[in-house]
Amino acid sequence: MKFLVLNGVNLNMTGVREKGIYGGETLEQINAELKQFCEGQGHGVDFAQTNLEGELCSFIQNARGKYDGIVLNAGAFTHYSYAIRDAIAAIDVPVVEVHMSNVHAREEFRKKSVLTEVCKGEILGFGKKSYKLALESFWL
Ligand code: DQA
Repeated sequence: MKFLVLNGVNLNMTGVREKGIYGGETLEQINAELKQFCEGQGHGVDFAQTNLEGELCSFIQNARGKYDGIVLNAGAFTHYSYAIRDAIAAIDVPVVEVHMSNVHAREEFRKKSVLTEVCKGEILGFGKKSYKLALESFWL
């Protein structure tokens, strides 16, 4: 199988911003570990990150026919982007929503995701391990 790990707005700041919440590893370091993890299981994986909402929609649209699943941490877009929600609903590639932090234990606005209803499932609160658990959900 082949997967796309897609990160949205501000996730390029992982390892730099709010380390107590998101950890001290950079997104590049996390992605390198995920690549090893997937390849060790015999699966392929690509990575993309963007701070632009429309570009994130394009990554989702362009995943059609190329990937068996998408692991998506949309960052703050999660809480209000109907455009990303519609992009997920438009494709037949399953999307697992991911958050490193436990969004339910944080500010009120983070408790609402406009994406979950159109995703296959959601994994949150396990730090960088959330990505691994989401990937694993596709082959377990
Ligand atoms: C996040 C949670 C979001 O609320 C926040 O805006 C992020 C990261 C997470 O991984 O915990 O940027 O998606």
